[in-house]
Amino acid sequence: MDGKAKISGIGHYIPPKVITNFDLEKQMNTSDEWIRTRSGIEERHYAEAGIGTSDLAYEAALRAIDDAGINKSEIDMIIAATLSPDHYFPGIGVLVQAKLDLYDIGALDIRNQCSGFIYALSVADQYISSRTYKKVLLVAAEIQSSNLDYSDDGRDLAVLFGDGAGAVIIEPNENGNGTGILSTHLFSDGRFAQNLWMEKPSPMDKPIITEETLASGGFMPKMSGKHVFKTASEKMPEAVRTALAFNNFTIEDVDHLIPHQANDRISLMVARNLGIPVEKVIRNISKYGNTTAASIPIAMDEAIKEKRINKGDLVMLTAFGSGYTWASALIRM
Ligand code: UT7
Repeated sequence: MDGKAKISGIGHYIPPKVITNFDLEKQMNTSDEWIRTRSGIEERHYAEAGIGTSDLAYEAALRAIDDAGINKSEIDMIIAATLSPDHYFPGIGVLVQAKLDLYDIGALDIRNQCSGFIYALSVADQYISSRTYKKVLLVAAEIQSSNLDYSDDGRDLAVLFGDGAGAVIIEPNENGNGTGILSTHLFSDGRFAQNLWMEKPSPMDKPIITEETLASGGFMPKMSGKHVFKTASEKMPEAVRTALAFNNFTIEDVDHLIPHQANDRISLMVARNLGIPVEKVIRNISKYGNTTAASIPIAMDEAIKEKRINKGDLVMLTAFGSGYTWASALIRM
């Protein structure tokens, strides 16, 4: 069966400033060796002060629009996935819209953290399938670097994350031959919301920011690393198996697996659990760290531009992150 929607254009943008593990060694008690062996990360990129997540998303959007060969005025819906919006409200969807000079179309923000891209893809797929919209711009972007705890207390998280953005254009699929977005499957378990979260600012505090709430450390993200690691390694394969069963495929049919780039050890465990050869797994975390919602479209765009992913290939996406949320998507290019 053909997918009703397809990715017709893709692009990504990474801010130029590179931060190596050696740079982080100067800020906290960590080492290049620890970071590389525990996560596979060698460097990440940080946006400069004054640059917003919507700026990174805008740059990625321009590249996806160009890749799709469309005029930006043809876009009839924007979906934006991020956990690090420029402001508490409004979301970045409308900010990207304004930067693109597109007015009066809808702009929707998705809050599903590391699974944000697949959640957003699922929504775009439904809009296209129901023929509500014809050209959806989906941006996934993050600036993590402004809000990490660079003291020893926060080193578990601070060394993992980086900034970046990816974007795709989703259009009706008229290609046939079993191509297009074949399925998306979304999952979550809110019992574990506090295992990976940024507790504050919270409207439960009145007023929302006080000396006390600032001192509480709640403004920095916190993670139960081992539980996240273990659950991610189990749930991504489950989501992949759901997609395979739904589409009557086996893991042997998959040409490329693109896991959310959370930790290279997690990606390798997912591959081992699924029995997929490691050469079929797209892995670029060494260069960018964990860019949360942006990691899958960045990895996918790189692999397409390097001609590693080609027309006709079967590509499996899977993600896991804060919420907990997890997801899979199967695409025939
Ligand atoms: O996108 C989804 C979100 N996040 C993830 O998927 C991340 C999931 N979790 C992980 O990737 C891993 O749990 C980490 C990479 C965060 C940690 O790896 P780990 O093998 O689980 O290490 P650990 O937490 O058990 O820590 C081992 C040691 C501890 O020291 P002691 O208690 O053994 O003396 C930590 O304090 O490593 C210490 N440690 C560090 N040392 C140097 C923690 N962070 C660092 C650091 N540098 N950055």
